Amino acid sequence: MPKDYERMEWSNRSERADLRSLCDLSRRRVLQGGTAAALAALGLAPASASSSGLLGFRGVPPSTADTVVVPEGYVAQVIAAWGEPVGLAGHMPPWRSDASHSAADQAAQLGMHHDGLHFFPLEGRSDRGLLVMNHEYADEGLLHPDGMTNWSAEKVRKSQAAHGISVVEVEERGGRWQLVRPSRYARRLTAFSPFALRGPAAGHPMMRTAADPAGRTVLGTLNNCAAGLTPWGTYLSGEENFNGYFAAPKQLDAHQRRWGLDADWGYRWHAFDERFDAARHPHEPNRFGWIVEVDPFDPQSVPVKRTALGRAAHEGATVAVTRDGRAVVYSGEDARFEYLYKFVSRDAIRPGGAKVNAELLDHGTLYVARFDADGRGRWLPLVHGRGPLTPANGFADQGQVLIQARQASDALRATPMDRPEWVAVNATTREVFCSLTNNTRRGTEGHPGVDAAHPRARNSMGHIIRWREEGDFDGETFTWDVFLLAGDPANPRPEAQGNIRGDAFANPDGLWVDARGVLWIQTDMSARVMGRGEFARLGNNQMLACDPTTGEVRRFLTGPRGAEITGATMTPDGTSMFVNIQHPGEPDNDRSDPAEPTKHSRWPDGGRPRSATVVVRRRDGGVVGA
Ligand code: FEO
Ligand code: CA
Ligand code: CA
Repeated sequence: MPKDYERMEWSNRSERADLRSLCDLSRRRVLQGGTAAALAALGLAPASASSSGLLGFRGVPPSTADTVVVPEGYVAQVIAAWGEPVGLAGHMPPWRSDASHSAADQAAQLGMHHDGLHFFPLEGRSDRGLLVMNHEYADEGLLHPDGMTNWSAEKVRKSQAAHGISVVEVEERGGRWQLVRPSRYARRLTAFSPFALRGPAAGHPMMRTAADPAGRTVLGTLNNCAAGLTPWGTYLSGEENFNGYFAAPKQLDAHQRRWGLDADWGYRWHAFDERFDAARHPHEPNRFGWIVEVDPFDPQSVPVKRTALGRAAHEGATVAVTRDGRAVVYSGEDARFEYLYKFVSRDAIRPGGAKVNAELLDHGTLYVARFDADGRGRWLPLVHGRGPLTPANGFADQGQVLIQARQASDALRATPMDRPEWVAVNATTREVFCSLTNNTRRGTEGHPGVDAAHPRARNSMGHIIRWREEGDFDGETFTWDVFLLAGDPANPRPEAQGNIRGDAFANPDGLWVDARGVLWIQTDMSARVMGRGEFARLGNNQMLACDPTTGEVRRFLTGPRGAEITGATMTPDGTSMFVNIQHPGEPDNDRSDPAEPTKHSRWPDGGRPRSATVVVRRRDGGVVGA
């Protein structure tokens, strides 16, 4: 996530030891843990020693190298970088290192800035499947040869084409993965692909526009962040912070203000695609901020925005299943002092896959979380007519409750949270985890103060919260605790000191529980803080494995400079793990300089930095992490 809201002042701006020379010596883009001692000798914190039975690898130390580092005995291979053709038959424009490919080319290539992803096996195989992934945003400084100057309809179209979702077919041969091209499954969904609106807000007056008077078809998906999998074989994707894509009216009404429409992230889409001018099309923003569902096995299927799951700056969507077979979808809203949601389907999942469950997520109850000081919590239903959600308080119907889920959650006095990101469910232990990445405004003037669930003011490091539903996953009450406070335990500053057992990290974002019960944690320290001040000892962004029983955390992978690590998925046999490396070389102003595209990173291939998927395998072919 590039739009880091934390513009922090740092007294210590000295850079950490530059490891470029070390990398150049090796001339390898993927280092092995054998360099651990050398890296540790340069002043970075050491990796933890081995003790957990669940974690079978030797941890890697923090790194500032422009490369991906994995443990001894592991290899990492780059596949599916931005700009590679996805494999549409008859339309496979090659990557151009100067980024001179056209908008039409980009719409047939992997998008920019990979985020959540999932591996869907073909015929249950672990050597062939579909990789589906989100492309969260575009760095216009890298996307166009001349960056953000000379805006044109073509450049806007290319930026829109770099967003969305990709479906690629992948295959392993002799331990190496590759894209299968052409593939009948290959697909790009972009910021101009048609999506159907379904559920209670579909067709609502607040969803109607001049171009779509029925309010049932939206062009595009935006700022797709975390990914989820349904038990019926579809892919879920969260439309996260969409507000900054729109040009705001001069005078915002209360609804527009509540949804942050005064943000301006520098996209000039509205100048050439007027539906992104919210002054002229005030309902268009209401058509973003939803969970989208995609059937990756049917490239002809129309993807759907599921309005029953509520509108939010959705990080993602994580599915659990009740004992009687109903789907429960958890979703955090990554914005300061926003909320955590849970949807419970009315009906049980039916055997037979995507087609027979095509309406499952259209009927059910949406809840928002309240964390109480006594370690219990309550899911508050966002149901029209219940409690304050009445016409007298401005909620005309259920559609409006869902479109204005933030206002409804305000009215229900839900708990404002420290940017809830991914949710991970352990279906065996029935524990649910959510990363709260940071919130430096917590406890500052004019903002909510600390509470039991957010115990640190000016929360720069973030934490992970854990809960168990009382009864089944559909329970309306739960018990919770703070699972872990991120930050270096050696940091003397109490507000930033972590209580991690093992390897230190900051700003948890990606979370995923694998089949063995390992909680994988991925970090998103922004380019503004990485390597600076109290973040310096933590190195680049990284991925760690946690044994939730013992609490032990061990660093598994470190990323290249400026990159965020996000999204994790494995083949069914656990021998290949896919991880996304997002925005290598991100500068601290969010936009790269087109004159110096390689100034901050040359990952993965020595030129213009490109987001890409990395496959991590054990040399002995064993289960990753074991
Ligand atoms: Fe897109 Fe919240 O990270
Ligand atoms: Ca993030
Ligand atoms: Ca994220």
